[in-house]
Amino acid sequence: MNIVEWSDALLLDFEPMDGVHREFVDLLALAQSAPDATLPQAWAAVVDHTVEHFGREDDWMRKTRFSAAENHIIQHRVVLNVLREGLAMARAGQMDAVREMAGELAVWFAKHTQSLDAALALHMRREPAGGGAPRHARGGGTTAHAHL
Ligand SMILES: [Fe+2]
Ligand SMILES: [Fe+2]
Repeated sequence: MNIVEWSDALLLDFEPMDGVHREFVDLLALAQSAPDATLPQAWAAVVDHTVEHFGREDDWMRKTRFSAAENHIIQHRVVLNVLREGLAMARAGQMDAVREMAGELAVWFAKHTQSLDAALALHMRREPAGGGAPRHARGGGTTAHAHL
């Protein structure tokens, strides 16, 4: 199984995304190391977090009219549906299938982060107001970004 692991190669230099991605890696690692008895609960935590994670990225793309949004949003939706199927499998006791899915998710996440999310991060860093990033994300930075 491919065990998820944080690596600086996943950093996108956009803290609102990097922070969420670190949390995702932590939660997926917990699920991958969970015994059967707690795997359904650990997988549910991954799914809940992913709803927030993808929802936030989708929001940024819509609010800033990101040109490559459609493909990215569709990919989120497809993956989230798969993860929800995984939750049903975990609750039905099909732990091997869920563990296999977790390994595939780890591989997918690295690829997605380094391609579609990297493009979104680049776009968000160029947004004058951070494109809807959480207000606390840019401490003390009140300088106007006139030059993009
Ligand atoms: Fe992401
Ligand atoms: Fe994404």
